[in-house]
Amino acid sequence: MPTTSPINASLSAASLPTLGVYVHWPFCEAICPYCDFNVHLMRKAQGSPADWLEAYRRELAYAQSLRPQGPVETVFFGGGTPSLMSPELVGGILSAIDEMWGLARDAEITLEANPMSAPEAHLTALRAAGVTRLSLGVQAFEDGALKFLGRTHSAQDARVAFAAAQRIFPRASFDLIYARPHQTPEAWAQELSAALALGPQHMSLYQLTIEPETPFYKHQAAGKLTLPDEDSAAQMYELTQSLCASAGLPAYEISNHAAEGHACRHNVASWQGGDYLGIGPGAHGRVTSLERGARLSSVAQHSPAQWLAQVEQDGHGWGELHALDAESVKMEAILLGLRLAEGLSLEALSARGIALAETRLRDLRADGLLTQDPTRLQASASGRVLLDYLTGRLLG
Ligand SMILES: C[S@@+](CC[C@H](N)C(=O)[O-])C[C@H]1O[C@@H](n2cnc3c(N)ncnc32)[C@H](O)[C@@H]1O
Ligand code: SF4
Repeated sequence: MPTTSPINASLSAASLPTLGVYVHWPFCEAICPYCDFNVHLMRKAQGSPADWLEAYRRELAYAQSLRPQGPVETVFFGGGTPSLMSPELVGGILSAIDEMWGLARDAEITLEANPMSAPEAHLTALRAAGVTRLSLGVQAFEDGALKFLGRTHSAQDARVAFAAAQRIFPRASFDLIYARPHQTPEAWAQELSAALALGPQHMSLYQLTIEPETPFYKHQAAGKLTLPDEDSAAQMYELTQSLCASAGLPAYEISNHAAEGHACRHNVASWQGGDYLGIGPGAHGRVTSLERGARLSSVAQHSPAQWLAQVEQDGHGWGELHALDAESVKMEAILLGLRLAEGLSLEALSARGIALAETRLRDLRADGLLTQDPTRLQASASGRVLLDYLTGRLLG
């Protein structure tokens, strides 16, 4: 178990980071061939909704013993496909969070949804259960591409689900995957323009990545799947930046675009070093515990059955829980903070005990990888596409 960590010797209730909760729902109707999230088939799920609610409640109570100070500002139901959860289960988890920490009055409550499990009546019930923000996994607005991605919805299904989400929730977003095999920059520009015409205030736009051990990985290794070359992919990234910026949704993070005031507060807080409890199978968390005098990193059991069993036995399913040392805290703060377009204030970093070598900052500014603002740690447009290289040089 963690002991006092030198970096956190000066921790006090007043200096605690904001608190969010990430709740992982690990089930999907079908597993997409590109996805390497912690996902399992819904039809093989064990445990009743009542068992799941009880397990989530118990793990929340354990997390509360480590960080009792609230309120909770944001909750993010991620997956998997959390739109497969019943509104009663979602509402039960939110009530438990409210009882334990208090939910801030303007809390942001996001839930990820798949267009095929988002009929209007279900969305209305999720809204009544407390969800304020829906994030829809659209992936493509082109039927052939959806089929290739193993999705069971059509472009029209996605448009209908997004229109319902816009009507029902104060905030709605969708995800798209681009730089797909055979996709040209012109085709992506058309698809993205059509997507923007739907009037979103937030979009997550990811380049297709081929993850080890997925079916796509095997297809690529067998020569049956070829991604666009680097030049085309770079062109598509540039088009994404310019089309979104002209439509009033500039990138606030590498893959996330929003109109002013519509960024996802939960994700921004975690990139800025906020605490988030990782609840559910495979969830990761970062929690500052005054009692332990440390910032803790948690990773829960991946297997839903093992997670349920461990929660029943120990009151939590965290397979791993350790105190982060000063070097890890520094590295994480910089890696995550540089993802944000606004970067991090050097003053805020120094308040967290993180100092950076002035000569390195100067060199990186001179090379055009950091912006010229001496008060912020902020990657320039070219620095943001070379983030690993930039961080490596910054940290030596
Ligand atoms: C957990 S899923 C969210 C919602 C829901 N499960 C769905 O797919 O409809 C998160 C998002 O990650 C993105 N994603 C997952 N695997 C990816 C990959 N290999 N390359 C690019 N994007 C990926 C997809 O856009 C997906 O919507
Ligand atoms: S992309 Fe979404 S629906 Fe597909 S397997 Fe991953 S989490 Fe499930």
